[in-house]
Formats: sequence, C-alpha cells, structure tokens
Amino acid sequence: MCGIVGYIGSEEAAPILLRGLQKLEYRGYDSAGIAVWGKTGLMVRKSKGALKQLEEKIGPDLRDGALAGTMGIGHTRWATHGEPSDINSHPHTDVSGKIAVVHNGIIENHARLRTWLKEQGFKFRSDTDTEVAAHLIDFYYKGDLLQAVMAALKKLEGSYALGIICEAEPDRIIAVRKESPLVVGAGRGGNLIASDVPALLEHTREVYYLGDREIAVLYRNRIDFYNEDGEALSKKTSHVDWDAAAAEKGGYEHFMLKEIYEQPKALTDTLRARISAGEQAARIINLEEIGFDSSWAAARRVVITACGTAWHAGVIGKYAFEHFARIPVAVDVASEFRYRNPILDPQDIFIIISQSGETADTLAAMRLARKTGGRIIAITNVVGSTLAREADLVMYTWAGPEIAVASTKAFTTQLMCLYLIALQFGLLRKTIGPEELAAALRALEKIPAQAEAVLANQEKIQRFASLQFNKNKAFFMGRLFDYAVSLESALKLKEISYTHSEAFAAGELKHGPIALVDGSTLVTAICTQEALFDKMDSNIKEVKARGAGALVITWEDTDYFNETADEIFRIPRTLDSLSPMLSVIPSQLYAYYCSVLRGLDPDKPRNLAKSVTVE
Ligand code: G6P
Repeated sequence: MCGIVGYIGSEEAAPILLRGLQKLEYRGYDSAGIAVWGKTGLMVRKSKGALKQLEEKIGPDLRDGALAGTMGIGHTRWATHGEPSDINSHPHTDVSGKIAVVHNGIIENHARLRTWLKEQGFKFRSDTDTEVAAHLIDFYYKGDLLQAVMAALKKLEGSYALGIICEAEPDRIIAVRKESPLVVGAGRGGNLIASDVPALLEHTREVYYLGDREIAVLYRNRIDFYNEDGEALSKKTSHVDWDAAAAEKGGYEHFMLKEIYEQPKALTDTLRARISAGEQAARIINLEEIGFDSSWAAARRVVITACGTAWHAGVIGKYAFEHFARIPVAVDVASEFRYRNPILDPQDIFIIISQSGETADTLAAMRLARKTGGRIIAITNVVGSTLAREADLVMYTWAGPEIAVASTKAFTTQLMCLYLIALQFGLLRKTIGPEELAAALRALEKIPAQAEAVLANQEKIQRFASLQFNKNKAFFMGRLFDYAVSLESALKLKEISYTHSEAFAAGELKHGPIALVDGSTLVTAICTQEALFDKMDSNIKEVKARGAGALVITWEDTDYFNETADEIFRIPRTLDSLSPMLSVIPSQLYAYYCSVLRGLDPDKPRNLAKSVTVE
C-alpha cells in the first residue's frame, strides 16, 4: 500500500503535492518523492524516510523556485519490492528521465517484464516492480503518452494505480487503476489525482471514482475518461461529505475497522503472486521469490517463534505444518524461547513471525536461532525491517501499513503465508500429492471472497455486541485450529474492550475453567473442526448448564448447533484446516464493536503499543 497524488493547474504543484502526501502518510511512510514539470523539464526529488525528510531535502529548492512548475506527481511509499532507499523511492522514470511514474499496488509479472526489457536494452536502477512500468511506457512511446500507456497496460498483470507524466506533454497527467484505489478530483484552479480522498479535500469535494482499468486524462481545465481500449467514457462526479479525519480512515470510524475490511484485498495480494497460473491440476506454489528450494524440506523440525498476535499465527502454523507436511513443530513465545535454553539443532528451520519486524523479544529469539546454524525464514509486513534484513529468507505479508494497535489484517495474511509454506513443505516431503495440493490451492483462492462474505454479514455481530458488550467475563473455546483462533479472539477482546477474556482448549474445560462459569459469562465456541463437533456440542451444553450464554461460530451449511447455541454466526465453508482465516473475523468485529459500545478508542487501547521494541 502506498499513497499517490498528482496535480495539474494554475498553481505551484510542489507544495500541493507535499500537502497531499501528508494526508496519505498513513498509507506508507518509508520513503517519498515528487516529480514536477517545470522550466528545466521533469524534476524528480526523492528521499528515504518519512515525508519530513523529503521536505527538508527539497526545502531550499522550494524557496529559490528551482522546483517551480504547475504539473506534478508525488508518492509516499510502503515498500513491497526493494527495501526503502532513495533509489527505490518513487517517482520512477524511463532511462532518459522524460517519463515519470508513481505506482500503488503490485505488478505481479514484473520479473518476467524486467528480463524482457533488459533484453531490449533498458537499464534498471531500482529493485522495484514500478520501474518496469516506466520503461514499458517508454518502450511504447511514439509521441502520444495516452497511446503508450494503453499499450503498456496490456502487458501489466497484478494490481496498480498509476500516475504518469511526460516531459514532452506538459498539459496532461494520465492516471489508471486496477484493483488499487484512485480518485480523481475536479478542482477550480486545477485537477488532481490521489489514492484517497483526504489528499483532495483542500481543493475539492467533487470527485470521480475510477473503475477497474479505467483511464483518466487530466488537463488543466478538463478531465477525459477512457476504457482500456481507448473508448471515451462519460462519468459523473460524486460529492464527498466526510470531514478530513473520517476521510483519512476511508470513511470508517476507526483504522481498526478499516483494516478489518481490508482483509480480502490483503489476502489476495499476499496469495496471488505466489500461486502459478495455468491448469488447476498443474498449479504450484511459487516461493522462489523468497529463495525457497527443495533443500529446506530436509529439515528435522520447524521451530516457530513470535509475540502476541503473531504468536497466535504461529500456533495455527504448527497445526498447519503437522497437518499438511507431517513434520514436528515447536512453537514458542519469543520471550520464553530466548531465556529457556531451548534444545536446537542446525537441521532445524526457524520461522520467525512479526508484523513490524522490530519486536525486541522476537529479534532476540531470531539471533539465538542464528547461533545454532539453522536456517531462518521471516514472515513480516515491513520491507527492510531488522527481521527482514537478518533472516535467510523473507516472505512478506502484503497487508500494507497496519495503524491500529490491535492486529487484524497482519494476522490473517501471516496465516496465508504459513499455509503456503506448509503446503510447499508437504509437497516436497510427499506428505500431500498434487491433487490434495490443487484442492488446497483452490480453497485458498476462495478465501478472500469468503472473507468478504463474512464481512457482508457484520450487522449480526454488531447487533449481538450491542446486547453483550457489558459482560465482564468472556471465554473462547475450541479444538485444534479453533483453539488457536480462540487464543487470538480472546486477545482481541481484552486488548481493546478491557473485558476479562480467556481462551482455552475445549477439552480443558473440566480441568479448571468451568469453575468460573456462571450466569455472567459469555462463552464463544468456535466450531469448524467437523470431526469434533460432538465434543464441542457437549462442552457448550456444559457451560450452558452453569448459566452461561453461548455464541457459536460455525459453517454456514451445518445445523449441528441449532439446538444448543443461543446465537450462531455462520461463515462460508472451506477446508477445516483453513478455517482460521475466516473464523477469526467475527471475533475481530465483536471486539471492535464491544470497544466502541463501551466508549473506548479501539485504535489506541490503554497501556499497549503497536510495536514493542524494548523488553
Ligand atoms: C504488540 C502489538 C500486537 C502484536 C505484538 C507483536 O503487542 O500490540 O498487536 O501482535 O506486539 O508485534 P509484531 O510486530 O512482532 O508482530
């Protein structure tokens, strides 16, 4: 996720671009840059670090008029391909610096295009997927930027929102999007593009929402729209009513809710480029991008370490590895692992999970693992983080920045990564065959749309929360994968609603927790492991007999719990082993609504920090 802006009009572009980028920093903040068309042609300035660093760098240019010009594009980056650096910052240009491009999204066939463009003699400067787009447009440029962009689009796969300017065409910006957001603003003194509405509000409340593969051509006094084949489109403006703060959150009341809703897209991004296209039966997981080869499958054991929500992902990872790859797995919270004097072996493979890639205990655990000589796979959301730099292999979750303290989209995308690695291990170790792999891949590909379906049903959870939010005791229970989801569900609720909530393996009910159950307790039973439905049903009856209320989260096509549950929240059917990516979503929503109903700020819970970089 990154933020892009563009301006063409009668005013100085650079200050407008910088103010627009300030409003988009929540979309990415590891580097920033602008390109302005002015008296010396296209002028590109970029800098690693927060937008402030770019502003400091170009301050003198702004003061002495060196960046004067009335058309430009800008970008604030959240790195995906290539670590944060001046060179990898956007805008990217063609070899001669005459065409500048800003991009948000992931160009999935960038490696193939890069090889092909190199064969055509193009020289690359950065590690980004975006630079491919700049060279490709240059390749097709024969004096008409619009034609060149349309030709290049035919070659690009993946998701993108692009803003493009050309030195030889000082009167227009071209913008296009596919699966990444882009809005076009119709201002009085000029027109604008932006990834999101907040960057436009200073200038206009009249916006056009671009559809997938639609192209906007912005002139100083008009905007034309085309479809991908160059046919003119007529589009209507929409009026934006949101205030600036609401707009930053995409109209959602809080970042947490926005991030919960971003999960289908984040899951798609994390999954898609990692499964090869083609015939279903012949499809494979492509982990070459992370340098994964068959030698990894000879491991003696997998050791997973993390903190907080990432540790819960690790617990699910353990079940997934055992299920698909039949390999022993140890999973530990990093703060225990590092002090426990664990028995480790050079034949162990370590999977270290951290959204931020900077959690102190997690980094210490990784360094301990490093000493044993075992190889290390990092799963992280932050390109260039300490964890990413120090691990042997990195598999990124492409969730975009997660702002809310309570982790949601990072968690489900961590799961997606773990499932992919577990399946790959399974295939290499021959514990699953091509047919089982194909079935799992088909199921994985449905997960984003199924997550969307869970979200579409959120009102039911909201209503349920409005009846329950004052309960001070909440238990979550489940078996196997559902137990791990219970751990994460209880954490979400306690983090942001301050409800005393606990999770336990349902089989443990009789060994202690049931002593606490009474009429003031809400028990959520997560029930997706079909072979254990009868066991779960008995557990639900046991808590109900002690006066507790029971919410059941289960499949949409079962009536197994109709008689026992007080309330049922249903999720679309997937493989039992893949259920966590769906079954956790109702719990995220429930925690969110309980927090809001209690008058709390779910984005900034008391005493908690997003990233714990000290012990
Ligand atoms: C903090 C955050 C949690 C997060 C944990 C691990 O406690 O509040 O949401 O799960 O740190 O963070 P990491 O960045 O390593 O995933």
